[in-house]
Amino acid sequence: MDVTTTEELLARYRAVLPSYLNPLHAVPISIDRGEGSYVWDLEGNKYLDWFGGVLTTMVGHAIPEIVEAVQQQATKVMHTSTLYLSEPMIAFAEEVAEVSGIPDARVFFTASGTEANDTAIMTAVANRGSNEILAMRNSYHGRSYSAQAITAQRSWSVASMSGLNVNFIQGGYRLRSPFREFDDSVYTEACVADLVQMIDMATAGNVAAMIAEPIQGVGGFAVPPDGFFGAMGKELANRDILFISDEVQTGWGRTGDHFWGYQAHGIVPDMLTFAKGVGNGITLAGVVGRAEIMNSIDVLSFSTFGGNPLSTAAGRATLAYVKKHNLQANAKAMGERLTERLAPVIERTEWIAELRGRGLMQAIEMVQPGGIEPDPGIAGRLLDACKERGLLVGKGGLYGNVIRMAPMLAISEAELDEGIDALIAAIDVTN
Ligand SMILES: Cc1ncc(COP(=O)(O)O)c(C=O)c1O
Repeated sequence: MDVTTTEELLARYRAVLPSYLNPLHAVPISIDRGEGSYVWDLEGNKYLDWFGGVLTTMVGHAIPEIVEAVQQQATKVMHTSTLYLSEPMIAFAEEVAEVSGIPDARVFFTASGTEANDTAIMTAVANRGSNEILAMRNSYHGRSYSAQAITAQRSWSVASMSGLNVNFIQGGYRLRSPFREFDDSVYTEACVADLVQMIDMATAGNVAAMIAEPIQGVGGFAVPPDGFFGAMGKELANRDILFISDEVQTGWGRTGDHFWGYQAHGIVPDMLTFAKGVGNGITLAGVVGRAEIMNSIDVLSFSTFGGNPLSTAAGRATLAYVKKHNLQANAKAMGERLTERLAPVIERTEWIAELRGRGLMQAIEMVQPGGIEPDPGIAGRLLDACKERGLLVGKGGLYGNVIRMAPMLAISEAELDEGIDALIAAIDVTN
């Protein structure tokens, strides 16, 4: 059947997909094609894409070098599995090990961020002989039973059962933390004290691992003070508890100051998980960790699609593009420009509580004027006002009241300014 309009496509979407899947906008848009920082719908309308299908088209749409790498690999072989030696997979594992900052690293590729986190947790459980895990409040780690068990986002929790015993620590979502009035160092001290008390009071004393997102993604780009996870790491190391950094949203230079989110904290994780942007849209994810930890699984275990030649060819081309064009530096420069231009607008808008984030990962949180009562209604109206001005941004946060901005890492200054102008105009007409 030929698809002609977005409206027809919406009817078919509703008829064949389950009801818990929902298009983002009140009047949904289709995406037919993309180029660089832009996408076009079926009617030919052009949008500046500041969400990338949830930070997954990472550097830009239809980047010729990446498309070519995928096309060339597709003509050779698309799947082999880890039963056979495949050069793209081994070469990309070598590259990931090298950029990970983890000594003597081993890499296991998976088909999703959820599966990467499942693998990291499974590895920690095998290594420590314990099913006790610590995670952060306001976290999101995926949709399997174990990934949901370490997720503290009520709107994403289908069921609470899992084989894990999980306790949640106060983390980086400062706006709604009981410690919100504290300055950076006292805030960190308070959260570390909470961690220590949780271990002492609520666990059986043999905790396998703590998992955390350096900047919480689905949780609305919530950022803890620099050094936060390093301070926690000291308490973890004293008790032989592994630290897993979920870099699914924060990896590959997006935060500008660092290649990985963990690098803001003076700690090297025992394992790090990645997904989303690494294949610039092609399914690619995995775990990288110290050999001593990664080798703890001593039974057969493999992931059919993990590290297939097509996805690892995309990963190699994406990473090469990030390095060649120094996109981490671009994320830093463009991120600073975004903060600078938005700060005065946020200051004068009483229904925006704050602008937060780092590099090309920034968010604003909408509240009732005069307090911090969440206002998801105004967030929805702002999202649509942006769309009407040709700008696609994302939504997030525990209450759906956060607008998330994640432009392509290769965005130009002119494109960034175009988006900022559209966002400011949208803020000015929204109330
Ligand atoms: C930080 C984080 N971890 C894990 C996941 C799960 O990844 P996936 O949807 O690929 O399973 C996500 C997805 O949004 C995420 O943001």
